[in-house]
Amino acid sequence: MSTVTIDHISKSFGESLVLKEINETFQDGEFVTLLGPSGCGKSTILRIIAGFEKPTSGNLYIDDQLVTGGKTFVPPEKRGIGMVFQSYAVWPHMNVFDNVAYPLTIKKVSKSEIKKSVEQVLEITHLTQYADRFPSQLSGGQQQRIALARAMVAAPKLLLLDEPLSNLDAKLRESMRFEIKEIQKKTGISVVYVTHDQSEAMTMSDRIFLIHRGVVQQSGTPVEIYDTPKNQFVADFLGKVDFFKGEAGNGRIVFPAMDGQSVAYDGPLTGKVDVGIRPENICFSPDGELQGVLETQYYLGDVDDCRVRAGDTLIRVIANGYEYHSLKEGQQIRMAVRSFMVFEDDGSLDQMLKIRT
Ligand SMILES: Nc1ncnc2c1ncn2[C@@H]1O[C@H](COP(=O)(O)OP(=O)(O)OP(=O)(O)O)[C@@H](O)[C@H]1O
Ligand SMILES: [Mg+2]
Repeated sequence: MSTVTIDHISKSFGESLVLKEINETFQDGEFVTLLGPSGCGKSTILRIIAGFEKPTSGNLYIDDQLVTGGKTFVPPEKRGIGMVFQSYAVWPHMNVFDNVAYPLTIKKVSKSEIKKSVEQVLEITHLTQYADRFPSQLSGGQQQRIALARAMVAAPKLLLLDEPLSNLDAKLRESMRFEIKEIQKKTGISVVYVTHDQSEAMTMSDRIFLIHRGVVQQSGTPVEIYDTPKNQFVADFLGKVDFFKGEAGNGRIVFPAMDGQSVAYDGPLTGKVDVGIRPENICFSPDGELQGVLETQYYLGDVDDCRVRAGDTLIRVIANGYEYHSLKEGQQIRMAVRSFMVFEDDGSLDQMLKIRT
């Protein structure tokens, strides 16, 4: 159980500044996830916390003890941290049991205690039946679980996990998510978890830190980040969203590209805005404010994924399949927007969309 305080930490590799003044505290017993696209700096933050990388400036505290900063540098092995690296390394000459036991063996823990602890984590990571095998006789996902078991066996107060489930199939991934979360809740250890998988972040985290280009764009509970994103990038990164250019004023937002159709709006912004609508927040409804022509409809079993043309714009609607499967392509249809997000048009959306295409 540890607090981690990242105090104005920046990191450059040569000319390139990859972390820009990160200033955050992770609480005792908290499950924190660093989420963001490839190259945004997630692993670098984790490696600085672990002590495998030194920041260019700033201080790092674990439980109020300065571990990196000024002339102070506490080496990784003295930080009481368990870590699974993105490129996990297991000892090829040791069998699974000995690999997992390693952190306890070097601490000179008694044989009977080692056996008990190792068997417990092997069970949790579904590796019991492979205890006698060598890594070369195991799949990538099984090797990844050895790394996870080894990081947990010494019951560290802080566990740093860098994409620890990336090599597992979907089913095992889901069950391991649940197992890691359960262990964390039971033991109360602090976890800093790195992923670019948003559903993993949503299901496991107490708080998510969404990072883009070395800056924390927003932090908050999964609900806060999903429902009230601070900017277009955050809205786009979590979940599905379509953006529409609008003009806010006189209690409405007008969409020029939808032949001037509009929705009611009582928020504070006026003038040019970017409106984000999540497709699950728009539905077909006879008295809805927007209308268009149903252009395509994909039946997905549980829902219908539809595109409706309004002027020059395509609007995506995820509709309940059972209720709407009788709709015909080409038919005029009305839509009600249950909720939407409004952002100032500061040019960032255009930039984002340009990078994507
Ligand atoms: N040792 C290094 N030398 C030079 N540049 C580096 C070094 N380590 C990382 N970088 C650069 O720093 C940036 C952040 O890297 P980092 O590994 O933290 O990204 P990430 O968010 O973990 O990405 P991914 O999701 O792909 O793992 C990248 O642009 C990367 O190329
Ligand atoms: Mg990484």
